Amino acid sequence: MAGLRSWSALFWLLVADAHVTAALRTRMILSGPEADSQLTSTPSALLNYLDNTVSVRPGKTSSPGPEPGDLAAAFTVPTLDGEFVYVPGALSGRGSVIIHAFTHQSGFLESLWSSEASLSSLLRDLPDSAQVLFVSLDDSSVSDVLWMRKQLQRAAVHREKDVLSRLHFSPLPAFALGNWIPNVLYSWGCTGHNCGLTQAVFTSGDWKMPIVIKRLDARYDWLAAHWGQRSYRLVDAGDGCSPAPSLAGAVAWVSEGNCSFFTKVQILAKSNASGVLVYARPGDPIQDMNCVGDECLSPLGVPAAMVHLEVSVAQALGLDQLVNVSFQNTPSPNFFISIDQQGRLAEMGWFLYPTFMFINWQAQWFDFYTDLQTKLQSHAKVFSVFDKVVMQGEKGAVATVELPLADVLDFDTLELDLSLSCPGSRDSSCAQWDHTVQLFVCCDPFGLYCNMELGRWITAFRRGIGHWLTDVSPLVPLLDSRKCIFNMKTVAWAMPWVVSLNLRFSTANHTVNHVEKLRPFRVTPLYSGGTFDTDYNNKYQPTKFSVPASVKKVELYAVITGHGSDENGCGEFCVTSHHFLINHIHNNTRVFESAGSPLGCAALAKEGAVPNEHGTWLYGRGGWCDGLQVDPWRTDITTQLDTSGYESNTVVYFGLYDGRDPNPAQKPGYIIMSSFLVFFK
Ligand SMILES: *[C@@H]1O[C@H](CO)[C@@H](O)[C@H](O)[C@H]1NC(C)=O
Ligand SMILES: *[C@@H]1O[C@H](CO)[C@@H](O)[C@H](O)[C@H]1NC(C)=O
Ligand SMILES: *[C@@H]1O[C@H](CO)[C@@H](O)[C@H](O)[C@H]1NC(C)=O
Ligand SMILES: *[C@@H]1O[C@H](CO)[C@@H](O)[C@H](O)[C@H]1NC(C)=O
Ligand SMILES: *[C@@H]1O[C@H](CO)[C@@H](O)[C@H](O)[C@H]1NC(C)=O
Repeated sequence: MAGLRSWSALFWLLVADAHVTAALRTRMILSGPEADSQLTSTPSALLNYLDNTVSVRPGKTSSPGPEPGDLAAAFTVPTLDGEFVYVPGALSGRGSVIIHAFTHQSGFLESLWSSEASLSSLLRDLPDSAQVLFVSLDDSSVSDVLWMRKQLQRAAVHREKDVLSRLHFSPLPAFALGNWIPNVLYSWGCTGHNCGLTQAVFTSGDWKMPIVIKRLDARYDWLAAHWGQRSYRLVDAGDGCSPAPSLAGAVAWVSEGNCSFFTKVQILAKSNASGVLVYARPGDPIQDMNCVGDECLSPLGVPAAMVHLEVSVAQALGLDQLVNVSFQNTPSPNFFISIDQQGRLAEMGWFLYPTFMFINWQAQWFDFYTDLQTKLQSHAKVFSVFDKVVMQGEKGAVATVELPLADVLDFDTLELDLSLSCPGSRDSSCAQWDHTVQLFVCCDPFGLYCNMELGRWITAFRRGIGHWLTDVSPLVPLLDSRKCIFNMKTVAWAMPWVVSLNLRFSTANHTVNHVEKLRPFRVTPLYSGGTFDTDYNNKYQPTKFSVPASVKKVELYAVITGHGSDENGCGEFCVTSHHFLINHIHNNTRVFESAGSPLGCAALAKEGAVPNEHGTWLYGRGGWCDGLQVDPWRTDITTQLDTSGYESNTVVYFGLYDGRDPNPAQKPGYIIMSSFLVFFK
């Protein structure tokens, strides 16, 4: 089901992500300030942070600063090229602003700014509507932004340079901006991958103080293991490329190079090391350690991280002195905040790994959201079903709505305008897991259509910005009585969502082409899904139906999603196909081709998939994405039909995996399906 983060399927990301890794493994020579900032044990800068974080972060009720959704106030920031001026309204409808605050204290940001793949993704995919303002949180802000600009200019050498004019670099550090930006950076809560300072802490008998340096953990989906809360003995294991004597309970200290990151970790895990610290070659940046190709098919059981070579540690180990290491996470300000095209402040969600693609996805979603606002202003008859109603528990959200039938029948288009937000203004108040949400409607309790599914969505992992418009026009016949009861539900134990739902009836296209649009007048419910095992297809019997002469068109309408995970990742992460066979010959087929692909759902951020969720939202899935509506599949089958007699047509459905009946060896998945024949006249 959607409710499971399918860790088992995560390797798919890595297999296809090999090109990114290859780029990361290209050596890069750092000439900027990064090169001499390898040690983060500079107490003043670190204390500066902690002070800011602790003293400015407000209690929930007394929050003085702006919150997500509030309008951003005007500001002006000097930049390397002049100044960046933000005037509310001036950019409205024209662009979004992403603000990124850099710090040397973060291994994550070092990797983000050093990876060729990351830099070029920003240059390639940042939407034209987005501007990015870069600032530094550190005292070294001038050299920092000069270096940041140089990194991007270097990556832009062989490409179109227009994007550079939308990137702005502030030589003033965040703590000297004198406007609301630092307040938001410091006070909006942030946990997880794109903020916080992950660090390694070394202690040794002769040292008066611990040595604290930044680290970047190997990509979490490759190594499911996490560092323990304890102190480990640190043991020098050379380059980690050949089997070491037993390292039981110790963390291995190994050099970058001579074999892949994956090989090192695999070999050291076999030596019973509790974890692996890979130090970068002098002058090299910390990298996002990942697997390449087939490596990704072998999960590893121990945590690993990359750090810079810390000379005192290397010396102590060289002298056979006892060195211990432990792992900590120090809170930091947010590194990314934004202003949407409507001028409202917005969180940026999670960056699952260090790449600017996460900025692009958020900015692409802002484009989608702006288009949506325009669509919602078009003429329509709107009925409010839920207005910020809490959906939770067995009952979900329920409302009775009067729909004057005459009005309903006057229109040919019905769209569901749904938004799912959270109890608080911040994403941290949102439900953590992804779940299926279904909208059922019953108008005539004694009629054919009571409690049919009118719409389906999947909730986002912990983000409260989802807003979608879904065309369900063929299902208008379900609204067969004046008073309708709408019930929207997800699993009973899910954390609450705040639901707003409008029904939008319109005839938008009539006026355009003056062609009399056909209207659906009857639907025939067909099949539902079920457990996706060897018996899946046995239960489906052919349905006979007639096509009266008055019928001008017949459509198949199906909403199909695959969930669960057998040994092939079915039905969430495997490619399934769904067939509606008409009159024994016409194969109407829907294939979930992007299921299991590494960025199948990230590619849909520009079509409304909530970006930067706190989970594995990136991967393609069986007919759905986290934080997105499930699009109905519609096929015109009129020409496949026989209009000559009573029940002269048949339809039957079957679902396949890999072109065959499913045959799982363990834990079969399941398909949720609503399907209809829709008759138009
Ligand atoms: C290293 O850790 C061990 C326990 O794992 C502890 O007994 C020892 O005192 C520690 N030594 C230092 C120098 O921190
Ligand atoms: C790589 O292997 C060579 C040959 O075994 C060795 O001399 C060198 O020290 C290794 N490099 C590192 C960084 O450990
Ligand atoms: C690792 O631990 C296992 C189980 O205790 C043991 O059988 C194996 O010999 C150890 N390997 C090494 C290299 O110490
Ligand atoms: C209007 O017509 C266009 C082109 O036929 C179609 O793509 C669009 O979905 C229609 N809009 C509605 C609201 O039906
Ligand atoms: C329909 O398509 C599926 C998948 O290609 C195939 O297995 C099946 O045999 C086809 N059925 C007919 C009747 O053509």
